[in-house]
Amino acid sequence: MFITFEGPDGSGKTTQARRVTEWLASLGHDVLAMREPGGTEIGDRVRAILMDRAHTHLDARAEMLLFCASRAQMMAEKVRPHLARGGIVICDRFADSTLAYQGYGRGLDLGTLRILLDFATFSIKPDLTLCLDIHPRAGLQRRASDLAGMNRLDAEPLAFHERVRAGYLALAAEEPQRWQVIDASAPPDVVEQRVREAILKRLAAPAKGA
Ligand code: TMP
Repeated sequence: MFITFEGPDGSGKTTQARRVTEWLASLGHDVLAMREPGGTEIGDRVRAILMDRAHTHLDARAEMLLFCASRAQMMAEKVRPHLARGGIVICDRFADSTLAYQGYGRGLDLGTLRILLDFATFSIKPDLTLCLDIHPRAGLQRRASDLAGMNRLDAEPLAFHERVRAGYLALAAEEPQRWQVIDASAPPDVVEQRVREAILKRLAAPAKGA
């Protein structure tokens, strides 16, 4: 089972991914927790390039390919072997982030991105994608309270983040059997409960073709 967390910046994905990992491990599952970009030694070095606020001139295509490079390494080194062993993988962001940020946000062609993503991911798709949905203004406010944690993409204008959010909602509407949209403006415990319910439902009835 491959579960991904998606959503605008400041939606609380990282907290929820951590909580769900602990919960599933406590139930006896073999859980691998990953985050993107990064998660491997090479991927973490790529992440540092991507997140560096000094890299204001990073080209949109180069940015997208770096996200894909980090992802391909993570799939090869960690995710594929873990799924092959029958474990559960929880990933804090995945390929849908590239569609939302580089596609809907930056305006790169979605068809081209899908081809590159299929290549970078070894054609592996999540069984369940939890979109923690929040208005970008609220999300960015949460992030701004931690200035040191602000990255290069957080610094994009609000209109960019609004396109990203709209992109997520469009992707979720395209594949409702895979996506579950959760209101992330609710208190963290309520969000956690909804996340658990979605996972239990999917564990009980795996998606067709999964
Ligand atoms: P985060 O680790 O705090 O979520 O930061 C990752 C940032 O990178 C976030 O702003 C979303 C962005 N991002 C993309 O633009 N494309 C991608 O493919 C991924 C994985 C992340």
